[in-house]
Amino acid sequence: MKKVLMIAASAAFVLGISGLTATDSNAAAWSKCKACHNFTAKKKVGPGLAGVFGRKAGADPKFKYKYTKYGSDWSWDEAHLKKWMCNSKKAIKEFTGNKKAKTKMPAQKICDPAKQDEVIAKLKAS
Ligand code: HEC
Repeated sequence: MKKVLMIAASAAFVLGISGLTATDSNAAAWSKCKACHNFTAKKKVGPGLAGVFGRKAGADPKFKYKYTKYGSDWSWDEAHLKKWMCNSKKAIKEFTGNKKAKTKMPAQKICDPAKQDEVIAKLKAS
């Protein structure tokens, strides 16, 4: 009986630890964005991200964009957001079809599809 309890306790411990790591990496995916963005309409270093999902590129009137001078003829759907959060520097060239296009946003290197989905879920909810 004592042995069974020990096993149960250590199983609970292992589950507890892995549960913690999962929560930590979830938080890390979009908490990175908070260095420069609010998940509200309020701008910070970058434009406010509330309502950005499905919005036209460069549509925050309170923010002075850099990339829009090269083009803004797309909306922030899943495909665009995934490329953007993986490598905005490369994505802006593809979105505008201009090899010289630049953006003020540094590449975030969130290229893992599961992490990208977490960020998109957060954007949809903001
Ligand atoms: C180091 C600062 C920084 C970080 C970190 C950052 N961004 Fe940005 N972001 C910017 C800046 C600055 C712009 C405006 C770019 C421009 O004008 O060229 C921007 C623009 C954007 C836009 C375009 C919004 C619009 O209205 O067109 C989206 C979407 C975006 N960021 C999403 C994200 C997401 C998601 C993350 C986290 C994975 C993130 N950003 C992390 C600085 C940052």
